[in-house]
Amino acid sequence: MKGVTVTLTLLMALTAALGNPVQISRPGTVTAGYSTTFTCSSSCFHCIYSWSLSGQRIKGSTFTWTPDGLDDEVKLGCTVINPETGAFHSTSTTVEIKNRMSVQTSPPNTAPSVNQSLNLLCHDATSGDPKAPSDVAWSKDGQRVTLRDNMQLLQDNLTLHFDSVLPSDAGFYHCHMYLPTLKTRVFSLGYLLNFDPWNVSISGPDTVFPDTLSQFTCLTSCALNVECTVRWEFRGGFPLGNFFSVNENSLKWTPSKPGLFQNFTCIAENAAAGRSAEATKMVEVTGILASGS
Ligand SMILES: *[C@@H]1O[C@H](CO)[C@@H](O)[C@H](O)[C@H]1NC(C)=O
Ligand SMILES: *[C@@H]1O[C@H](CO)[C@@H](O)[C@H](O)[C@H]1NC(C)=O
Ligand SMILES: *[C@@H]1O[C@H](CO)[C@@H](O)[C@H](O)[C@H]1NC(C)=O
Ligand SMILES: *[C@@H]1O[C@H](CO)[C@@H](O)[C@H](O)[C@H]1NC(C)=O
Repeated sequence: MKGVTVTLTLLMALTAALGNPVQISRPGTVTAGYSTTFTCSSSCFHCIYSWSLSGQRIKGSTFTWTPDGLDDEVKLGCTVINPETGAFHSTSTTVEIKNRMSVQTSPPNTAPSVNQSLNLLCHDATSGDPKAPSDVAWSKDGQRVTLRDNMQLLQDNLTLHFDSVLPSDAGFYHCHMYLPTLKTRVFSLGYLLNFDPWNVSISGPDTVFPDTLSQFTCLTSCALNVECTVRWEFRGGFPLGNFFSVNENSLKWTPSKPGLFQNFTCIAENAAAGRSAEATKMVEVTGILASGS
């Protein structure tokens, strides 16, 4: 995301340098539920300004907008037309939308398992809000959640409770509510409820060289430090070498002796939910140096 923003800023700076006469000025952060004003400017005096957002056209050189939280990124364009000459210029920018509302499991960081109870909590990080949210509702895969047996709405609908969660409950959940202080309805970030086995793999070279630092990363389909934590095991023996370090899902190693095989095992687990998955990678320390290294 940051890379994209930097690239865009550079692109915008570049088009400005090349003489694009239209510029969009925008606030640093745009947050769902909060009104934001964008300004389009150009050197043209009697020009007609218009904005484009998700296929809609809005007239005016300023545009005030309150994102509802359904999108985390939108493309916003501005077009400037000179009515006398018919000449027009346009520019666009990608707007990243922050969302303070999310769906979380309760207690936090629990990984759901089939046939166990589950609470999904509609969390509003804007808390400290004196007025309670109202009209809280839940959706699954874009449709309003229908409560089946053994499902309840608790705490003014802020909690969606399952006595026993079933494979058919898997889906993408959102909550949405009316926030009186902001006078608007806001959708939360989505939460993917799934029971698929976790995917774990280890990225990095199959062959490494003595006295050369190599890096390996444990990739997991479960959200690291939210749904699962990661640890490493060295079942065939601890890696020997000049340097070795492990930091969560990242492992760095500078072997010293050629002609060895080393096994790395990465285990992703959530002990409370009784779920785990692992991957093992076998790495060869070769004595033949690659040309140029
Ligand atoms: C869940 O419960 C059902 C019915 O009691 C049972 O058939 C099923 O094997 C259970 N599944 C798991 C993953 O425990
Ligand atoms: C909770 O949900 C029910 C039905 O979905 C609705 O009638 C009720 O007004 C909601 N309550 C609040 C506090 O949002
Ligand atoms: C799991 O890994 C396989 C092979 O690497 C990949 O094709 C698949 O898309 C992954 N699934 C998920 C849910 O990440
Ligand atoms: C590494 O693992 C492979 C199979 O995964 C096994 O055949 C081999 O003996 C192991 N090597 C060491 C050094 O533990």
